[in-house]
This record gives sequence, C-alpha cells and structure tokens, in this order.
Amino acid sequence: MEILETPFVKRFISFCLEGYQRGWHERNGGNFSYRMNDEEVAMVKDKLVYNEDWKEIGTEVPTLAEEYFLVKCTGAYMMNMGSDPKHCLGIIQVDKTGTKYRILFGMEDGRRPTSELPAHLMNLAVVKERTNGKYRVVYHCHPATIIALTFVLPLDAKTWSHYFWEMMTECPIIFPAGIGVVPWMVPGQKEIAVATSELMKKYDVAIWAHHGIFVTGEDFDSTWGLIDCVEKSAQILVKVLAMGGIKQTITNDNFRELEKPFGIKINPEFLD
Ligand code: 13P
Ligand code: ZN
Repeated sequence: MEILETPFVKRFISFCLEGYQRGWHERNGGNFSYRMNDEEVAMVKDKLVYNEDWKEIGTEVPTLAEEYFLVKCTGAYMMNMGSDPKHCLGIIQVDKTGTKYRILFGMEDGRRPTSELPAHLMNLAVVKERTNGKYRVVYHCHPATIIALTFVLPLDAKTWSHYFWEMMTECPIIFPAGIGVVPWMVPGQKEIAVATSELMKKYDVAIWAHHGIFVTGEDFDSTWGLIDCVEKSAQILVKVLAMGGIKQTITNDNFRELEKPFGIKINPEFLD
C-alpha cells in the first residue's frame, strides 16, 4: 500500500490540518508524533528505505527500541501537511539502544524530525508504560487562550486542574487526573523533555508556560477530543474571568458525585 494512502497517515494529516484551522499552528508552531502498531508497520514495510544513517535522539528511550513512528518535520508548517506531506512528515525508527533514530520515509531533501523529538519520544515511552501499550499519540500545539492563561494563573497543577474541571461538567470525566504544568523552559532540549515526561507519568495534559501544551491519548480521536475540551475550557475561563470572575460553580462534592456514574476517579489531591 502507498504510505500516503494508509488510514493512519491520512488521519495524521487531517489532524494537523484541523489544528491549523483552529489557529494552533502559526508558522512552524507545534508538532505531532504517532507510535505505529504492528499492522501499520507491516502495511508499509516494503515501501520503507533502510539506508539512512542513525542519528542521536538527544535522550534515551530504551522501552521504544526498534519501534516505528510517524512524526512532523522540524520547521514544517502544519498548513502544508496535506499539500506537501513528503517535506512535512516522515516515518522514523528507534534503534536497539533507544538512543538513535533513522529516517525510513518522507523528510525529503534533508528534512529532519521535529526539534521536540526528545519530548515526543520520552512522552510516548512514559505513556506506553503507564497504559500498558495503549497510548500511541502525542500532540503539541500553541493555542492562544491556553497560552494567555499562563500569564495570569499560578503555574501549579492544582490551580489549573480545578479551574479547567470547573468550566465544563465533562472536563473532569475527560481528564480526571488533571493537568500538569511545566514552568518556562528552553524548548527542544532534553531538560524540558524530562520535565514533561515526568508529568505524563500522571497526566494526559501538560501545559508549557508561555509556550503551549502537550496532550497524549490512545488514538487520534481521543487525543483530538482532549485538546479540544481543554482549549474550550480555557476559552470559557477567560470569559468568566473577564465577566468579573466565578460567582457560582461545580463544588468539590459535585465532582465526587460524578465518580460512580461515570466510573472514574477524580484526582483527590486537587479536591478540597
Ligand atoms: P518544530 O518546527 O521543530 O516542530 O518546532 C515547533 C515548536 O512548536 C517547538 O516547540
Ligand atoms: Zn512549540
């Protein structure tokens, strides 16, 4: 099967274009990665070219050894993902040691994986372990409302989780563990990758102060649904704050009432 015709590549591209339409990907902002499953690897294996050199990832991901990933290129504009995919995305494989990668498809004319590859792979490794292999998607984008709130809200997980749960009843059901927050750090480095992956041991959502957000999920739809809800919650919060602040809300006991009917456990650290 032609690689660009496979359902997972088509869905990867449509996801990126939807993010662009939402205004979350100015210029080359944001990046995306997907850990392919065995059937997807088998589907494209005879079209992959195994003659590129191994390159340093810049971190270690031993639990992802020899796995295959679809990732955005550094500098690529999400806007162009549909019209020029061979310069905007590629398939890479991690080596046996989990310290190197090689390009097997796409990333033409010297393109390279996203500068946030260390963060993507470390997050994918952590959530693979946390969910016994279920989670395969990591998405990073720059939504204006979420970024704006990082200038106003205290940068701690309890504040963000509680506010974002309060803004829509469905939010604590969709991200019951809450939201982690990484303080401002230099992007594209191992340090920010380590800090984010520490949060991903507990949360599906990590805010990067004054920069953007990382979300993770089992598949494309659930990851999209998550970022869509978090950004909507941010928009409601900004409106509420602009209208003079919260006058009545969902109480901590109300949150606890959701647990049984929806079969969830809302992170008790963030409930008073
Ligand atoms: P890349 O173009 O390298 O993916 O970087 C975009 C970005 O958002 C960095 O945080
Ligand atoms: Zn970014």
